[in-house]
Order: sequence, then C-alpha cells, then structure tokens
Amino acid sequence: NSNLCNLLNSKTRILGVIGHPIAHSLSPIMHNSIIFKNKVNKLNSDAISKNIDTIEKLKEFKYLKSNLIDNLNYVYLAFDILPENLENMVYSAKILNIRGLNVTVPHKIDIMQYLDEIDEDAKKIGAVNTISFENGTSKGYNTDGLGFRKAIEELIETNNLNNSNEVKNKKILVLGAGGASRSICYEMSKDNFVTITNRTLEKAIALEKYLKSIGHKNVNSVKLDEFNDITNLLDYDIIVNTTSLGMHPNIDETVLNLSNLPENSLVGKFVVDIIYNPFETKFLKQASEKGAIIQNGLSMLVHQGAISFEIWTGIKPDVEIMKSSLLTKLN
Ligand code: ATR
Repeated sequence: NSNLCNLLNSKTRILGVIGHPIAHSLSPIMHNSIIFKNKVNKLNSDAISKNIDTIEKLKEFKYLKSNLIDNLNYVYLAFDILPENLENMVYSAKILNIRGLNVTVPHKIDIMQYLDEIDEDAKKIGAVNTISFENGTSKGYNTDGLGFRKAIEELIETNNLNNSNEVKNKKILVLGAGGASRSICYEMSKDNFVTITNRTLEKAIALEKYLKSIGHKNVNSVKLDEFNDITNLLDYDIIVNTTSLGMHPNIDETVLNLSNLPENSLVGKFVVDIIYNPFETKFLKQASEKGAIIQNGLSMLVHQGAISFEIWTGIKPDVEIMKSSLLTKLN
C-alpha cells in the first residue's frame, strides 16, 4: 500500500536509545506508540477527506483531524553501543542528523564527557539519560528524577487526596542509594524531606553529603537495620523502593518485610516501587495489604520518557497511550 510507505519518508528524523545490551528495551514501543498512532491517524484522515459523504464520516474526520499533531515525523530505534564506541557514536549521531537519544545502562555517566553541553540538573545528578542534538550541538539531560516526581503527582491526583497534586513538604523514605536513587533523591529533596537508607550505609551517607554540598539541606541517612523496628516506617508519607530486590526472576525478595506491620497501618501512605517487572513486587503487595496506596515502576518509566519526548519534539505526549503500549508488551 503506497500510503503506508508515507509513514516514513525523506524528512523522517531519528530518535532512539543507546545501551548495552539493548534488545529488551521497552523505549522503542513506548515512543513509537505516540509517533505511529499520529501517523496512522493522519493516513486515515487523509483517506476519509477524499470521500466525506455521510455525517458519520464527517464526524470521524473532524475527530481525527482535531487529534492530529503536525510535523511529528520521527521514528524511534534501539542501538546496541559498546562502551568503547561512545565517542564515535556522538560524532555519528551528529552526522546522521539524529534528533535525540535516550541513554541507558551502562552509559549514563560515561557519555557525559563526549557531550557539548549538560543541563544543570543532569550535571548535579551526575548522569545523563537523554541527549538532544540541535544545530550540530549535543546537550545532555536527566529526566529520571522529574519523571519520578510526575509519577507521584499523578498518583496523588488520581487518588484525589489533595486539592493540589503538588508534591512538597512530604517526608520521603528512599530505599537504596544507587543510580536510580540518586536521581530521585536529588529531585525530591529540592522541596521535601528525604531519608536515604541502604544495605551499604556508606553509600547512603555519601549521597546525603553530596546533596547537602549542593544546597539540598533536608536530607539524612539512616541504617537499614533501624527499620527492623518496622514502626519507624510510619513517620513517612511516601516510601520508595529503588533497589533491585523483587525484580524478575527474584520475585520473592523484598528489601523490607512489611507483613508484620499492624493492620491498616499504611492507610493514607504512598508506597512506590520503581520495578515494573513484575507489576506488583512482593514489597508492593505487602504494602497494599496494610492499606497503602501503591504504584509500580511503569509510571516513572512513562513519565521520564514523556519528558524526553517533549525535549526533542516540543510535544507533550499522551502518557496513557504510552502506558497502554507497554501493558500489551508486558502482559
Ligand atoms: P540502579 O541504577 O538501578 O539504582 P545500582 O546503582 O546498581 O542500580 O543500585 C542498586 C541498589 O540496590 C543499591 O542501593 C544496592 O545496595 P548496595 O549499595 O548495598 O549494593 C541495592 N541492592 C542490590 N542488591 C541488594 C540486596 N541483595 N540487598 C539489599 N540491597 C540491595
């Protein structure tokens, strides 16, 4: 069908993700769900426009037309890039006129030395997950922390607990002190009270000290053992697991055992796991049994992607479309 060939053409710009390995990345599906839905709507509305002979067709045409985004002519691909090829990759991306890239494991830190500019937040986080190429210049961003904030705002809004979905002045407990924790603690300690706990306490202390050194004063770190007295959890409004415990295939693991908490003790609390495979980790299951409002890692994944997408295209994508594209893949 010649119309289908118009989905990609000589003006199509490339977006993508680099990592190693990359074959299991969900980013292409998530981003292409927005891009191709728009392309298909455009094809359908063009086809209908040639033959509007009923009210129904007119309605459908108007509906499709009102939802169209102009000039969203992109395709999103995955690139398996070895660490030794990072510098050449940046050079090649410029030559190929690539518009933007996400950056994932293991390149988020090493890529920084090859970029022309780094956004202030990414600089302070010390890692980049998004690159924008414009006029021959590369600029690095980090959308993980803000993606987490958006996910929490969505959770609060959905549960209608606040007149405002703003997240500030909350007490947040972050379990883990690795890369993901760093982005989340950085972003959330701008206007909340963040406690970091970790198996290796030294890493939590180092993160606390670093955040304080850049002016984020409302941070402390606590030994994981302190939460053997599980009631210490009850001080917090939001509890987040950023450790890998509970991730497929080790689904019986959990960083804290919440099953000994009194019934309903987590009512009104938000418990979040940034893991999305499985959808519900043991940690989230136990939290839910004690009455918490829970959220898995799909929301953060989608929101960090949506912020990258907006950096590249200027368009705020529909996160529900992105989420449902992932659900079909993960089910
Ligand atoms: P990511 O980039 O996903 O954050 P990471 O930087 O490797 O990954 O961090 C993994 C986190 O999970 C760390 O906080 C790690 O704790 P340590 O700093 O003590 O290693 C935590 N983690 C991993 N395995 C763990 C385990 N078996 N028990 C407790 N914490 C664990």
